[in-house]
Amino acid sequence: MKGVVLAGGLGTRLSPLTRVTNKHLLPVYNRPMIFYPIETLVNAEIRDILIVTGGQNAGDFLRLLSDGKDFGLHHLNYAYQEGEGGIADALRLAEHFTAGEKLCVILGDNIIQGNVLEAKRRFDAQEHGGHIILKQVPDPERFGCAEIVDGRIARIHEKPKRAKSNYAVTGIYFYDATIFERIGKLKPSARGELEITDINNMFLEEGTLTHSFLDGWWTDAGTFESLRRATNLVAETGANRLPAEPVAAAAAGSKQGKSGR
Ligand code: DAU
Repeated sequence: MKGVVLAGGLGTRLSPLTRVTNKHLLPVYNRPMIFYPIETLVNAEIRDILIVTGGQNAGDFLRLLSDGKDFGLHHLNYAYQEGEGGIADALRLAEHFTAGEKLCVILGDNIIQGNVLEAKRRFDAQEHGGHIILKQVPDPERFGCAEIVDGRIARIHEKPKRAKSNYAVTGIYFYDATIFERIGKLKPSARGELEITDINNMFLEEGTLTHSFLDGWWTDAGTFESLRRATNLVAETGANRLPAEPVAAAAAGSKQGKSGR
């Protein structure tokens, strides 16, 4: 399985911090933000990784990450997104890189306490479709939010005015290679972006979207409040630290492994 970190966009919600640099190069406690999603992929045994970035500071990613030696990698791939057309627009740049393989996509501002190895293994065994990871949050209106009926996801609503559950869709997605033809069918949303939520709803309508639940904390870091939260959480407990298979959950089948389908 290939890995893709999406680190484009303008990061306007963090202006003026992002006026002269890319959001994903900002510090989260003792490391640049982009280190955390790369580490999440490596912890899930994904070593063939593409970084998609954009804006005026793309060269800084090369200087910072080089060939990925900080993560025990020998090589990293890079792609450049023109403009800020949305998450699905950035993902489209991964088509040649993935070359028909399944992929795990992580948003460059998503930081987790634990590990997605179990979800990755589960998607390895899934014939086709997609897999998303949900997390209960106090403010689901800030995210893609899963409407759940009888234990199944009925629909995902992007930043709903009134959330139908408190389950946010985290920015860690698993897809088969049909993702790229699906992106080609998308129309820009009201905010002018190609939305990853529309892709997830496509898989959902076909009955091929599975989901699991994330152990440990999860946060984005794209607003002042969430950046502060991320910094505090990392400083207090460390990111990407929980074992992949928690001892207590392993006996009964861990939460992450349970499907909602
Ligand atoms: O954090 C999880 C949430 O991320 C999901 O629950 C939402 O469904 C999803 O839409 C997304 O919401 P945000 O509004 O927080 O996404 P944002 O625009 O902040 O973009 C998140 C990352 O995606 C960003 O750190 C870099 C990447 N990105 C974004 C855009 C708009 C790109 O690479 N290119 C882009 O054009």
